Amino acid sequence: MSKGSILVVDDESEIREGLELLLTSEGYRVSSAETGAAGLAKLEEQPYDLLLLDVSLPDRNGLELLREIRQRDAHLAVVLITAYGSIDMARQAFKSGALDYITKPWSNDELLAQVAQAVEAQKLREENLQLKRALKQRFNFPNIIGKSEKMLKLLDLVTQVAAARSTVLVSGESGTGKELIAKAIHSASPRADKAFVPVNTGSIPADLLESQLFGHVRGAFTSAVASKKGLFEVADQGTIFFDEIATISPETQAKLLRVIQEREFMRLGGTEQIKVDVRIVAASNVDLLTLVREGRFREDLYHRLNVIHLQLPPLRERREDVPLLLAHFLQRYCQENGKPPRQFSAGALKLMMDYDWPGNVRELENVVERAVVLSTQEKMDVDLLPAALRSKEIVRGVRLQLSDFLPPLPGEPGARTGADSTQPSLFQIMDEIERRIIVDMLERSGWNQTEAAERFLIPLSTLNQKIKRLGIDVRRRGRGAEEAYSAAPGK
Ligand SMILES: Nc1ncnc2c1ncn2[C@@H]1O[C@H](COP(=O)(O)OP(=O)(O)OP(=O)(O)O)[C@@H](O)[C@H]1O
Ligand SMILES: [Mg+2]
Repeated sequence: MSKGSILVVDDESEIREGLELLLTSEGYRVSSAETGAAGLAKLEEQPYDLLLLDVSLPDRNGLELLREIRQRDAHLAVVLITAYGSIDMARQAFKSGALDYITKPWSNDELLAQVAQAVEAQKLREENLQLKRALKQRFNFPNIIGKSEKMLKLLDLVTQVAAARSTVLVSGESGTGKELIAKAIHSASPRADKAFVPVNTGSIPADLLESQLFGHVRGAFTSAVASKKGLFEVADQGTIFFDEIATISPETQAKLLRVIQEREFMRLGGTEQIKVDVRIVAASNVDLLTLVREGRFREDLYHRLNVIHLQLPPLRERREDVPLLLAHFLQRYCQENGKPPRQFSAGALKLMMDYDWPGNVRELENVVERAVVLSTQEKMDVDLLPAALRSKEIVRGVRLQLSDFLPPLPGEPGARTGADSTQPSLFQIMDEIERRIIVDMLERSGWNQTEAAERFLIPLSTLNQKIKRLGIDVRRRGRGAEEAYSAAPGK
């Protein structure tokens, strides 16, 4: 199978032929054209994953041509070929919608890496677009990203339950998309053109919450100078969304139960029963059943809310959604910040694929936004990721086997009996572990101590002290890590 299709537009035959040879041998399908006009014609004939475009063509200026191509195809990945690199060139290239540029003469390895990345990004973008289209057709939820079985099943359920008026309980860890799903239920329901009213129950004191929910009549309390509609009335015919339902007080729980059962209530201080037709959706990031067992949440209210239960899976249980979410938020935040397209480096992607995302999609969204805002060039590397992700890199990169360090226990092979002066103490074991971690990081930083200190998030002076204390021989740079370990004293 081809790795992807590439069109080369360059007037120099050596470059065309050279690129064709190189890229074909790497498994790409390659076509080429000599002029801008011929290139445009080829683009009309069939879709390509990538266009390699010479900036100075005999018949056209490449940048001009690119702008024309953009009007026909907003998404085609384009890498420019230029005779010289300059900041101005880079700026112009990004402004006219290129993903990247290559300067003549290039190293084949670099070029192949750039091409691979551009094709990969293009395929992801294409997949995302198709997915959005498919999701839109299937569910009409254009802003919910996901292709994992768990998400698709959930969205199927959302579509099924949307039509009814049944109360829905949405549960899931923080940041998994509970509010997003609640809105999706509303917008897929016959109530879509009526109000969706979110109530954040967590941040409001009980009496204030009740007056917000049910409204009050004039004089109900000192500051009630006029009657006021409550949120239940505002949500009439629509949907009311209780976020963090677990935080409401027992008194409010009782009142809420009554509204759910009777679909009517009184304003605070009022005497008249008000009837409403609302759909109730509640969300919780703690397990309500546990709270019921602990006597902190009314069991009858729990059953009333839990008519239909939608459980949002944490992101670490649907890692296949991570690349799509990254692409989705990359596009959004580049656009929002007026930046040219950005990509994560392979190293950064790997860290993010391996990460557990305790804050789920919201955390991922924040990571992307932060990286885009701080980025100064197209490729975004590990250094733009927050410490929580990078500290994982430190631990992950060092393949520590505790059995390498610990003396065997009695009964295990090699165990010795009695006091043994050659057996290492805990301090020696800790030192050895620290030494290995530091040597490993130095290795991976090309024995550049400043870089290693940055990756460890410690000052260079601290790293220096540790190197001295542990007797790590930094003059042995370039040798294998194993040798550096064994060169250390005490081994
Ligand atoms: N599947 C998804 N596709 C696209 N964006 C998503 C998805 N899931 C969540 N998000 C985005 O992640 C952010 C957090 O989602 P949301 O507020 O719905 O989570 P939550 O479960 O209500 O979180 P919390 O428990 O902290 O209130 C929002 O910006 C939302 O748009
Ligand atoms: Mg929420």
